[in-house]
Amino acid sequence: MIDQATIDRILDAAQIVDVVSEFVTLRKRGVNYIGLCPFHNEKTPSFSVSPSKGVCKCFSCGKGGNVIHFIMEHEQLSYYEALKWLARKYNIEIKERELTNEEKQANSLRESLFVVNQFASEYFQDILYNHIDGQRIGMTYLRGRGFRDDIIKKFQLGYSTESRDALAKAALQKGYKEDFLIKTGLCYKKDDGTLRDRFWGRVIFPVHTISGKVVAFGGRVLSAATKNVQMKYVNSPESEIYHKSKELYGIYFAKQAIVRQDRCFLVEGYTDVISMHQSGIENVVASSGTALTSDQIRLIHRFTNNITVLYDGDGAGIKASIRGIDMLLEEGMNVKVCLLPDGDDPDSFARKHNATDYQAYINAHEVDFIRFKTNLLLEEAGKDPIKRAGLISSIVKSISVIPDAIVRSVYIRECSQLLQMEEKILVEATAKLIEQARETKFKEEQRKREREQRNAFSPAGETRQSQPAGTLPPSDASTPVPPPPTPEDIPASVVSPAPQSEEPDNYTSFIPTTGNEQSVFYAKEEELIRMLIRHGEKIMCYVEDENGEQHPLTVIECIASSLKEDELQFHDALHRRVLKEAEAHLHDEHFTAERYFIAHPDPQVSKLAVDMISERYQLSKYHSKGQKIVTDEERLYELIPRLLVDFKLSIVDEEMKHTLQALTDPAIANDPVRCAEIMKRYKELHETQSLMAQNAGDRVVLKP
Ligand code: CTP
Ligand code: MN
Repeated sequence: MIDQATIDRILDAAQIVDVVSEFVTLRKRGVNYIGLCPFHNEKTPSFSVSPSKGVCKCFSCGKGGNVIHFIMEHEQLSYYEALKWLARKYNIEIKERELTNEEKQANSLRESLFVVNQFASEYFQDILYNHIDGQRIGMTYLRGRGFRDDIIKKFQLGYSTESRDALAKAALQKGYKEDFLIKTGLCYKKDDGTLRDRFWGRVIFPVHTISGKVVAFGGRVLSAATKNVQMKYVNSPESEIYHKSKELYGIYFAKQAIVRQDRCFLVEGYTDVISMHQSGIENVVASSGTALTSDQIRLIHRFTNNITVLYDGDGAGIKASIRGIDMLLEEGMNVKVCLLPDGDDPDSFARKHNATDYQAYINAHEVDFIRFKTNLLLEEAGKDPIKRAGLISSIVKSISVIPDAIVRSVYIRECSQLLQMEEKILVEATAKLIEQARETKFKEEQRKREREQRNAFSPAGETRQSQPAGTLPPSDASTPVPPPPTPEDIPASVVSPAPQSEEPDNYTSFIPTTGNEQSVFYAKEEELIRMLIRHGEKIMCYVEDENGEQHPLTVIECIASSLKEDELQFHDALHRRVLKEAEAHLHDEHFTAERYFIAHPDPQVSKLAVDMISERYQLSKYHSKGQKIVTDEERLYELIPRLLVDFKLSIVDEEMKHTLQALTDPAIANDPVRCAEIMKRYKELHETQSLMAQNAGDRVVLKP
């Protein structure tokens, strides 16, 4: 356990920007820094780091916190382990007492698996350097391939002897649990109960996570033995800590060079990475022989936008990997392709050339992917019109997945020249594909929503719906209310309450549905909706919780929580719907309110959005102190709370007015029960009003 004084010293030393920068390329924006979120897949940065407040947060997926939380989440560590990680980084000596047995057990399984892998990695290295076979066989093989000693050490290469259980025995003897040896895949159990090593008679390539922990191993047979062995490589199986599709070989050793060079080379194998390092090119990672996954792309994308894929000269495998490259485009990466001279792969080429020559070769021969693909397919199609048509649609498809419209249009122009086709036709074909993709996505989401909705209808939802709405007339009869579920609709297994976004609209009011355009409350309501559509996802301010911790608050969250606080809603059904959807989608990937509502499938909603962002309002600027012009966006922190207070006071005022009027309606005046209900409501409104008046102004908001 770490004592409090040490914890304080660690927290003093660990600067959030410094720590986050180890994993995320940050750019300064105002007083904060932003970058691509390391916790989810994104193409536009929404991960914000505030050095002054010592916090970070992703405004898309919501993850973040202080330095310790960041390391816990990123490195998948416990609180205690995260502190140790930070202490190591800042050279702070930790005074800790010996762990008790219970504490040892409490250490999570993941940590134990990493510990066992670390042990194994050291064990394999020890064999390589100190065992006679390690030297005679392993080292001879590695040196024979041309690997230098310093490179062998750097990549922590090792060797496992021909013994079938040497590692198992050594590990058990040191007290490592059999269970962990099996869960990491280092060992497996035979039917007769004996423990066997997975890796024997192989040179060992440890696979490191982005932060340098050993997550898996690859073992290569030695050339002499290859004849009788089917598998050139044996790899660790998937485990609690190892998901092949999420790791990239070499990323730990490459990440700094990738940032420095602002580009990353992608190769296939362990030996390609190692040889290139040896020749002096360090910004290189390997996909380990499989198709690239979006998780792997994300790892690279955190450090750079630029990727160059290196291929063997013989061109085998290029066609197969083209689909994978579409994925890189989709992630918004600039993709180039470089063919090595015939007969060479990245490994052999590195052994023949130094870094300068290698780099020069790549610079001279790398081609933009779209052009590369176009030429490749053109060559293949020749004059065959059917093949040519197929080629064009395949290229249009690649272009259509590129997220940036400007980049797309540059490619379209270039391809129209290469293909000798009218640009207009390509533009139209691309637009059609984009539209199709959008539709497919929308349908998928709709299906998902419907599924959720079906699951959300529980008997509890039914009672809630009929309860408060019963006494007062619904203000808006046109608002669709979902039909009550029939018993068959309710799966027996569903017991959870309906999520917020699926609650029926149970708004009730005496204010007439239409004709409020001139009312004060309506103007304020519209103003809030305008802010919500234009700035909804933006951070408005930081709020303090009861522990004095500060949390960023978006405009959407602020409006929603402020209304809920006083049990108020927007009067206009469309406005209510906009707020509800904004809340439900706020944490979607890449969500921006403006884009979301403008692209909304319901024309009523998208029209509202377009109205709200039209020119007239875009130009609203304010003169503040001195001559500086301040935009809405810069003063959200004061604008929104003020609008909210104005809106709330005015709508309650309006509601009270209409409630009183309702009492004069003879039909109601003659119904004592109804009268009492309405009087009660009037009193409640009155109370709300005076509470609001008291509270207005003393809620803590901090300027961002
Ligand atoms: N690979 C694998 N299992 C195999 C073959 C390949 O996991 N049976 C993965 C390894 O990560 C390997 C990569 O695919 O590094 C590329 O395969 P290959 O080109 O065959 O191996 P090299 O790394 O080039 O190894 P070497 O040069 O020693 O043949
Ligand atoms: Mn090779």
